[in-house]
Amino acid sequence: MEKNDVKCAQKNIMAWYRSCGRHDLPWRKTMDIYHIAVSEIMLQQTNVPKVIEKYISFIERFPTIESLAKSQQKDVIMQWQGLGYNRRAIYLHKMAQSVQNDFGGFFPEDPNILISLIGFGPYTSRSIPIFARNCDIAACDVNIARIMRRVHKVNDASEKQVIFWTEELLYHGHSRDWHNALMDFASIICTKRSPQCEMCPIKKQCLSFPDPQDAKKILRTEVGRSEHGKHIPRRIFRGRIIEYLRTHKGTTDQIGNVIKKDWQSTKDRVWCESVLKGLKKDHMIVCEDGVWLLK
Ligand code: ADE
Repeated sequence: MEKNDVKCAQKNIMAWYRSCGRHDLPWRKTMDIYHIAVSEIMLQQTNVPKVIEKYISFIERFPTIESLAKSQQKDVIMQWQGLGYNRRAIYLHKMAQSVQNDFGGFFPEDPNILISLIGFGPYTSRSIPIFARNCDIAACDVNIARIMRRVHKVNDASEKQVIFWTEELLYHGHSRDWHNALMDFASIICTKRSPQCEMCPIKKQCLSFPDPQDAKKILRTEVGRSEHGKHIPRRIFRGRIIEYLRTHKGTTDQIGNVIKKDWQSTKDRVWCESVLKGLKKDHMIVCEDGVWLLK
């Protein structure tokens, strides 16, 4: 992008953010790096309204990294209830223990160190110092990548290219606000399926305007199984199993009967067993003499 276009895009996105951004999100009112880390892990795969509710209760229950590290895995999973992808709760718990044991309880702030922690990828290891310390670097998640590919009208641009563009557009010195602005812009204007191109503050800089082709791609269905004729993603069944095992133990048949409304042992048993084995592989549950229980 030309230098002048970069400046215009930064100015226009920031102006839009000041008037239309989501300034009340609870993790935007703190600089506590542990609280920011909790929010970033939650936001990885869960939508904002759900995270707002769960973030507040999680922080109330585990206000410090020490309190999280000292707790039982079961309690952490319990507190994670409703967010889905429970593996993240286990990683977060292990990460807290690693910070206590390996870093004397001080949360690392360097992306190169953060990336070595369990559950932290290239995005989170950069986004955490950005949101907590206004660290002058760029982070790129799927939503920011979508903006970059659209603005440059290269739908199949490589990850490396997308990172280059994200760094090129970074509003230096205002990294925290800039990334918050990009997050909101991606979620309100430059959405995946129905971008609001007419209202876009950077339509003059966007090579895809007025018609981003990637928004028209057919949705790929998630792996799952039919329940009363409706396709239910596998992750929903995984969540239902964890939910049930919080308060019960059970055989495959007992569990299947609870988690699938149209359960038929002959038809669904092998499938249910495979979902249970997946959870076992992810260290969430164990099987003792044919009875499944939370780890
Ligand atoms: N998704 C990931 N991080 C976010 C943030 N800080 N605000 C809103 N959505 C996000």
